[in-house]
Amino acid sequence: MEDAYLIKGGKPLKGTIALSGAKNVALKVIIAALLFDQPVTLKNIPKINDVIELLHLIKSLGGMADFVDKNTVIVDARSLNKNRIDLLHASKIRVSFMLFAPLLYKFSECFVPNPGGCRIGARPIDRIVDGMKKLGIDIEYDSSSGFYRAQMKAKPSGSYKFPKETHTGTELLIMLSLFGREKITLDNTAIEPEIDELIRFLILSGAKIQKEGKKIIIYPVEKLILPSPFEIMSDRNEAVTFATLAVASKGEVTISSIQPGNIRMFIQKLKEIGAGVDILGKSLMNFYYRGKLKSSRIETQPHPGFMTDWQPNWAILMTQADGESTIHERIFENRFSYVEELRKLGADIDYAKIPIKNPTDYFFFNFDPSKKYNQAIKIKGPQDLHGGVLEIADLRAGATLVIAALVAKGDSVVNGVSILERGYENFEAKIRSLGGEIEKI
Ligand code: EPU
Repeated sequence: MEDAYLIKGGKPLKGTIALSGAKNVALKVIIAALLFDQPVTLKNIPKINDVIELLHLIKSLGGMADFVDKNTVIVDARSLNKNRIDLLHASKIRVSFMLFAPLLYKFSECFVPNPGGCRIGARPIDRIVDGMKKLGIDIEYDSSSGFYRAQMKAKPSGSYKFPKETHTGTELLIMLSLFGREKITLDNTAIEPEIDELIRFLILSGAKIQKEGKKIIIYPVEKLILPSPFEIMSDRNEAVTFATLAVASKGEVTISSIQPGNIRMFIQKLKEIGAGVDILGKSLMNFYYRGKLKSSRIETQPHPGFMTDWQPNWAILMTQADGESTIHERIFENRFSYVEELRKLGADIDYAKIPIKNPTDYFFFNFDPSKKYNQAIKIKGPQDLHGGVLEIADLRAGATLVIAALVAKGDSVVNGVSILERGYENFEAKIRSLGGEIEKI
């Protein structure tokens, strides 16, 4: 199977691209569409491996979910006839645990495998399980089978305050609260734009959801009906990747269907380091190299802070910036899989220890003082990068390695591109349209 890119780097990328639909909205809206008792039409769904896996999973449960044209998916939950997700499908798509919501409403009981860790850390779902219990759901983990068994004996009720923000946790508890016995309040929720988009979809379909800062109040409704097809918003992570590519390759890329408000902190940081950023129209922006880049300090945070998904891309920019930069990752443990790979291209990049007074509060994962973590890096630039053979370990690191290979002088091979293609639609074609020399091998 072709699973690598051959890249000839070292030239500025120039041109225009249109963003695809947001992966992290599409996946959740497809799952939420299983809460309806009639077919739901969704537009601008990116045809990426993660979405394709989710559609397979829904079909393995008896549901219907298919692309009917390039980016339109119809989901029909009426034929769902299984309440147990098999391990094979669950292992391919982490958000499978979000199916607790539709399966519990459909069958009152379901069996869902523990999503487990992944390449960006342990990723437990303890807060999510705790929240489900607070809403009255019986849920137990059977360590001998690796499955959760959940039961909804009565309509959900109550309230839950997340001890720390969780993005998918907030989304799952919203879905579970839609047809409750009474008003349900969720507090200290995540406030990522993707969650607002899921809420917009649900409200358009008749849900009664009120948002006050980090508090979300859900009033019960009987059913959901979507009056017309729902269009998924554009992918802000893809916007960041192509903006980074423009500046790091010393080129200029115009991005259409962009929503600047969703990447405000990234735009601010780009301006601070001296990159060119122009708003050309309502959803049209230009990103370009203007000359010497300044070093920076980045600390990842939930929205509206600098997002964790952007830091691997940012590291490339910092290899081209003047002086020493730091990146401190607060959201996930183990999100620096790209460090060793960038060193192969000649990047001057090292793990750093930044003393933190209260790591349990500072980090958003469950900090364990007995474990060793690498949560910060230092990058010295500007550094000319040369070609090399690189291995992709996780999605965002994958895009980073491709950018690095495009910036580097000479030929590179990037292996494991199916991981990258889980989240980026037509990545190779888009890069080629900007003049990048990239070929699947
Ligand atoms: N966490 C727990 N217990 C929980 C829930 C979360 O310890 O019960 C920890 C996580 O392990 C993590 C931190 O809390 O260290 C925050 O996790 P969160 O739940 O917010 O992340 P997520 O919902 O698993 C989503 C996106 C990620 C994105 C983060 C942050 C999807 C499918 N995934 O993950 O996207 O980085 O929110 O916004 O929406 C990506 O697209 O490449 C990606 C990783």
